[in-house]
Amino acid sequence: MSLARSIARTRLCEILDALPTLSIGVIGDLALDAYWTADMKRSLLSRETPRFPRPVIREFYSPGAGANVAHNLAVMGIGHVSAFSVLGDDWRGRILDHEMTHRGIDTAPIIVSPKRSTTTYIKPILTGYESEQEDARLDFENANPLTDDLEQALVGQITHEIDDLDALLVADQIEVNGVITERVRDALNRLASDHPEKVLAVDSRQRIGLFRNMILKPNWMEATKALYPERDARALSIEALTEIGKRLCKQCGQPVFLTLSESGVLVCTAETCQHIPAAPVRPPLDPVGAGDAFISAAVSAMVAGASPAEAGAIANLAAAVVIEKLNQTGTASPVEILERYDLACSAEERT
Ligand SMILES: Nc1ncnc2c1ncn2[C@@H]1O[C@H](COP(=O)(O)OP(=O)(O)OP(=O)(O)O)[C@@H](O)[C@H]1O
Ligand SMILES: [Mg+2]
Repeated sequence: MSLARSIARTRLCEILDALPTLSIGVIGDLALDAYWTADMKRSLLSRETPRFPRPVIREFYSPGAGANVAHNLAVMGIGHVSAFSVLGDDWRGRILDHEMTHRGIDTAPIIVSPKRSTTTYIKPILTGYESEQEDARLDFENANPLTDDLEQALVGQITHEIDDLDALLVADQIEVNGVITERVRDALNRLASDHPEKVLAVDSRQRIGLFRNMILKPNWMEATKALYPERDARALSIEALTEIGKRLCKQCGQPVFLTLSESGVLVCTAETCQHIPAAPVRPPLDPVGAGDAFISAAVSAMVAGASPAEAGAIANLAAAVVIEKLNQTGTASPVEILERYDLACSAEERT
């Protein structure tokens, strides 16, 4: 099926127009992305250590991980976007809160605790006379698992507020010591089962196969690893990936969006598995943030009444907008999604 034929323009407009009436929450790992630019032309060899210091002349911060998913929802025009997580009582947590609030995200449900460290990825950029170079990243992570009382507080918070949400997106993005612990995951699986009227969806790098009763958004590698950890996903055909999508769908009881990078997405439901091609893109490309844009758009569309196939088409459009944005974790607005749809239609007419 062609992308343009997966959804009519009037239907796309109808869905995009409904977004401002929706309330969507994001629960999971939030991170702060920091870009520190050092002007090495100003660097003088230090007397104390035989090293050239990095004189930072610019700092720039943006929401990462689940916070970027929330940002994508806000830019898509969702009426109310809220974040559920646990941040550290530290300067990075305060900057992240500011960056999110500033982008229209409700951070009131976030729990702040001195027992946590706000996940931060600092990317030092060294500039010289003509050139620019990235230095090794500095990461702030959590050395210990989320404590029992914080697990309980997080579960309590979302259980208390789920009634006010139309959808909940789970961002299980950190491999170790993130906030989606086994207990939190079990609680979310139960919450999804107790609220079949709501759209729940999850993006998980390592554990997508452990979620139940909610929409899954694995990429082809994550999906393969969930069922066949010993198989090389790169060697699998689209037919083999279709089988994997169907099995994951059966296992979780909800649609599966199995993303295929430049090949688009397989949308698997209990009835069918459809391949929706990617939207056209114009290089140079920067794939960072494609997955976040995809899940945000797919979930928003589903809540606004789109079928899974329509949601897959809209999500492909949003992801294409984002990967054309260089050197940033991009977002896609309804206007940009509509422009991309028109571009996809004219590209299909020419072929
Ligand atoms: N080269 C590309 N051309 C067109 N669309 C693309 C391309 N790469 C990715 N996309 C779009 O982005 C979506 C998500 O990409 P992908 O399958 O790589 O997810 P992901 O691995 O979860 O991404 P991320 O690395 O951001 O986590 C795809 O379904 C597709 O719509
Ligand atoms: Mg991903």
